[in-house]
Amino acid sequence: MSKVVVFDHPLIQHKLSIMRDKNTGVKEFRELLEEIAMLMVYEVTRDLETCEVDVETPICTAKCHRLAGHKLAVVPILRAGLGMVDGVLNMVPAAKVGHIGLYRDPETLKPVEYYCKLPADSTEREILVVDPMLATGGSASAAIQFIKNRGCNRIRLINLIAAPEGVERMQKDHPDVDIYIAALDDHLNEHGYIVPGLGDAGDRLFGTK
Ligand code: PRP
Ligand code: URA
Repeated sequence: MSKVVVFDHPLIQHKLSIMRDKNTGVKEFRELLEEIAMLMVYEVTRDLETCEVDVETPICTAKCHRLAGHKLAVVPILRAGLGMVDGVLNMVPAAKVGHIGLYRDPETLKPVEYYCKLPADSTEREILVVDPMLATGGSASAAIQFIKNRGCNRIRLINLIAAPEGVERMQKDHPDVDIYIAALDDHLNEHGYIVPGLGDAGDRLFGTK
């Protein structure tokens, strides 16, 4: 069974509360999503492997540590996942970026794929899939299946807000993929929106409604 980590850091919770507010505008929403993504990835990468290296300081030789394990790739689920990419890249500038285009059919709530482009060396990388919302879990589960079909097997999922239904679906479909979230909300409403949630993340991020 995968682990579910909820980040209850005060800075993350404060910023998320502003994002949830229906009166928060596009500019602030976008900035906050990037900031939270940065704070989350700082914690998500806490267990990355390091190796000891000798560094010549102006004073002497120092035993230091540098990243040594698998390189990273960040894969946003379009559209709303795009809002988390720069936050991740601020912390891990060498990460490569893939894209998976999925939208959720408003009637069936099933994900529809329209784009997939991953880095050529993605099988050698640890993949961080990012999307602010994990609702039914259909989009995240399908995206991760595409990534696995291309031979990747070290994958983590980073969401802002999850519904219990989405977490359950992910743990059933992908028990090997750990999930990192800022909040586990109450339930989904009859339209598949997270309650209390923050509304439609893509529309709020890009001002399309
Ligand atoms: C939203 C969100 C997730 C998906 C979550 O995207 O960004 O990708 O819904 O719902 P699910 O867990 O039930 O699949 P949406 O389909 O609205 O597309 P958009 O980002 O292009 O607006
Ligand atoms: N997608 C969103 O953007 N918001 C939700 O609450 C559910 C799916």
